[in-house]
Amino acid sequence: MLNIPTQSFPAPSSQQRIAPSGQSGRNKVALKPGHSLMDWIRFSKSGKDLTGLRGRRIEVTEEELQKHNRRDDCWTCIRGMVYNVTPYMDYHPGGEEELMKAAGKDATDLFDQVHRWVNYESMLKECLVGRMAAKGSTALKGMHIHSFLSLSTVHTANSVGKIQITMRKQAKGKWESLGQPLEFHNTFQRKKDRALFYRDCVLVAKTEVNHNTFVFKLQLPRGTVMHVPVGKHVYLKALIQDTEVVRPYTPVDQNLTGPTQHSLQESDLYLMIKVYPDGVFTQHLNTLHIGDHLSVSSPEGTFSLHRLLDATNLYLLAAGTGFTPMVRLIHLALQDMDGIRKTKLLFFNRREEDILWHSELDELAANDARFQVEYILSEPSESWTGRNGRVTESVLNEFLIRPQGSKCYVCTCGPTAFTELTTGYVL
Ligand SMILES: Cc1cc2nc3c(=O)[nH]c(=O)nc-3n(C[C@H](O)[C@H](O)[C@H](O)COP(=O)(O)OP(=O)(O)OC[C@H]3O[C@@H](n4cnc5c(N)ncnc54)[C@H](O)[C@@H]3O)c2cc1C
Ligand code: HEM
Repeated sequence: MLNIPTQSFPAPSSQQRIAPSGQSGRNKVALKPGHSLMDWIRFSKSGKDLTGLRGRRIEVTEEELQKHNRRDDCWTCIRGMVYNVTPYMDYHPGGEEELMKAAGKDATDLFDQVHRWVNYESMLKECLVGRMAAKGSTALKGMHIHSFLSLSTVHTANSVGKIQITMRKQAKGKWESLGQPLEFHNTFQRKKDRALFYRDCVLVAKTEVNHNTFVFKLQLPRGTVMHVPVGKHVYLKALIQDTEVVRPYTPVDQNLTGPTQHSLQESDLYLMIKVYPDGVFTQHLNTLHIGDHLSVSSPEGTFSLHRLLDATNLYLLAAGTGFTPMVRLIHLALQDMDGIRKTKLLFFNRREEDILWHSELDELAANDARFQVEYILSEPSESWTGRNGRVTESVLNEFLIRPQGSKCYVCTCGPTAFTELTTGYVL
């Protein structure tokens, strides 16, 4: 038996698993033909009255919200805004049954548990019924700071990463109220309750990796430093046909053999992205020019490095672009974690030309005895001399050997079927 910690990579609840196995119940359903995201965008922009209110916005009481709890009359509330999701029902990638869990109630928590990053505001713009009527006791959410306080001093202590801000009360005396929150000034909410924060980045370089994959270098706004922890991802957001579309991507290092990202300036992000012929987001990304802008979220994800601290052997199972989180793990294991005696990557692809950073991986393996890579192709050409086939239990048994006294850690990433199969075999 391998001593494999139960936490695999990506974690069972992480969005890195495109559809995590069982537990969280996040499963994409097969949508009827003509019900893709682009179809929804076209339908919602067609000018039809999707709320039944002919463009009017209303204040919705809790009692009113509760009444709209049927499949053919379904309202839901997210972050204080009420939407009529009846017309969206057949377009929801999570299916009708899931969406009905939100019927007639505040579904903010449910929504966030499943897909906090989904930009419902933009997708459901035409379905907006109105705002929830405020309840007497909910005023303490934020405050109109500038009418009560004035900024006095700001001290920064770079060495400890702290900022000290001193504010002065404008008028002496007790505040009678805290006022209303300014839009986006929701800093009295916990991070998990806040919508994702995006910053405007610039595409500064695009480098071809293979026939369909590129590394996109994005520059953060001037003065912004962002550290994306290993194993976490960011969300990219773009306006496509007047609707915001969001997709997650895992930053990679600039290369496999150079210094790690954290020793470089953290003002740039490198994203290795495969462009799909029918991909909504990646097709748009592929049309961007150097100098074009793109919104990038703060890092998200549940992966934690602490389980790796006492590992001696790191096994990485990747398929296709499931390679991206492995890049920084490889760097980290080889450069910063002396306890890890061996890092082995088993990399599954269809054809040889699909293998990402093939020569870099070979070079790394040739120069660092602690690193080993093996490729398995499902559709090899005649000239391929390496292994072929698909992921099976016997392939994994052969690969995941546990030397005496070792502590092995296995990370797996790829399309849903791949992560489910591999975690099934390993656990
Ligand atoms: C946490 C996380 C991190 C990710 N990191 C990366 C990354 O670093 N690099 C990267 O290229 N992608 C990554 N992805 C996948 C990415 O988010 C998008 O799903 C992908 O770019 C396709 O988006 P799209 O809008 O172009 O395609 P869509 O319009 O959503 O789909 C178009 C077609 O592509 C196929 N397709 C879409 N996504 C996948 C997939 N992941 N595997 C197999 N087929 C697929 C679908 O079958 C569909 O037919 C990550 C996904 C997750 C969940
Ligand atoms: C009301 C507004 C909602 C909108 C606009 C919405 C939109 C979406 C979108 C765009 C996806 C695809 C996600 C992706 O490709 O990454 C999705 C998937 C999904 N949704 Fe929703 N959703 C809503 C509410 C809910 C609620 C309340 C639930 C659960 C109770 C839910 C459960 C799911 C599930 C299980 C999936 C499939 C798994 C996944 O792809 O992450 N959704 N939804």
